[in-house]
Amino acid sequence: MRFSYPFRNCTVKNKFMAITVFGLILIVWFGNFSHSVGEIERRSVNNDLFNEIENLKRRVQELEHGQKVYPEVKFLNVKDRKRILITGGAGFVGSHLVDRLMIEGHEVTVVDNFFTGRKRNVEHWIGHENFELLNHDVINPLFIEVDQVYHLASPASPPNYMYNPVKTIKTNTIGTNNMLGLTKRVRGRLLLASTSEVYGDPEIHPQNEDYWGHVNPIGPRACYDEGKRVAETMCYAYHRQDGTEIRVARIFNTFGPRMHLNDGRVVSNFILQSLQDQPITIYGEGKQTRSFQYVSDLVDGLIRLMNSNYSMPVNIGNPDEYTIGDFAKIIKGLVGGNRKESQILQELKTILGWSPKVQLEVGLNRTIEYFRNELRRTTLDGRHFTKLPGGA
Ligand SMILES: NC(=O)c1ccc[n+]([C@@H]2O[C@H](COP(=O)([O-])OP(=O)(O)OC[C@H]3O[C@@H](n4cnc5c(N)ncnc54)[C@H](O)[C@@H]3O)[C@@H](O)[C@H]2O)c1
Repeated sequence: MRFSYPFRNCTVKNKFMAITVFGLILIVWFGNFSHSVGEIERRSVNNDLFNEIENLKRRVQELEHGQKVYPEVKFLNVKDRKRILITGGAGFVGSHLVDRLMIEGHEVTVVDNFFTGRKRNVEHWIGHENFELLNHDVINPLFIEVDQVYHLASPASPPNYMYNPVKTIKTNTIGTNNMLGLTKRVRGRLLLASTSEVYGDPEIHPQNEDYWGHVNPIGPRACYDEGKRVAETMCYAYHRQDGTEIRVARIFNTFGPRMHLNDGRVVSNFILQSLQDQPITIYGEGKQTRSFQYVSDLVDGLIRLMNSNYSMPVNIGNPDEYTIGDFAKIIKGLVGGNRKESQILQELKTILGWSPKVQLEVGLNRTIEYFRNELRRTTLDGRHFTKLPGGA
């Protein structure tokens, strides 16, 4: 067989044209080929996206059908399980109390008007069969069936309670009257979250529960101090007149995760200033003393008091006071990470003689971590879930 060259009899010009046409055909063919490769790649990317979207859809469906993962709760049988109402349960202290009572296996209803509280403080329980969240203002009557009422609804920090003093008084008087009325109707028991502020500007130190206080009834803090004093008076009036079971906790300064960044008191101020590398503001020489308790110690105290037989007021706080100057130094050291915990503990034991259940530096580290996360947070998703009691 003889192989012949196709353009053997053509002129140079024709050969050139033939090669050009052939080249163009090659270019068009290659273009189509690469287009199809791109198309295939695009399809595979689309497939990946499609799979991703399908996975997300499945996840959303799981969530919609109640397969949310909740912290583990104990099972209490009907004899031991209580129906518990927590007013102000979406706030700082209230939400920690919710966590503890839920984990113990009780049925918890939170009533909150979200003035200072946040839904996200309790969102990890939303949808749980033992949990209910009601958007309700306690200055309006409430009719529900419960065994115990922890009445915490009230702004607690000076900027919050002075923001609307009339509302603060109404919440503490009309609101407390409504909750006492509810407790009386259901023959339950109410614990009032009162405050060390009922002692006002005390003339004696430390104040025990027999001290009647030294309060200016017309000062800027009176809406809170006097509001709580009337709330206590109401509790004992219901108790004497109708035999309503009451407990009164006079709470001292408390700190921990979920406390307000704008709380305006030393713990939040010092942590914020340290985290933002600003100098810590200390009024005077820093020799004035304060006491601070970690929120889980307070929650322990509240639950113990509620379930005790003791109906007179009880101070709940850390008995040991220490100077603002020392406190500022400790926070600065913890935020900077340049002081060992054991060194701090030793200092606290010798200077302050304090060894609480949750040691100060442990509590402060948890609070600092919460504040750090809150400052970094730029999206709704960037949340910080506080470790729940029991490691849940
Ligand atoms: N945190 C402390 O150091 C401290 C000290 C002494 C007493 N207390 C008392 O403990 C309780 C809780 O304090 P906290 O630090 O958690 O404060 P917080 O502001 O975080 O919580 C108070 C909660 O009550 C809610 N609330 C306010 N007014 C309401 C109303 N009219 N109806 C329904 N809900 C309402 C708020 O939205 C918030 O969720 C308060 O009664 C406070 O007086 C706290």
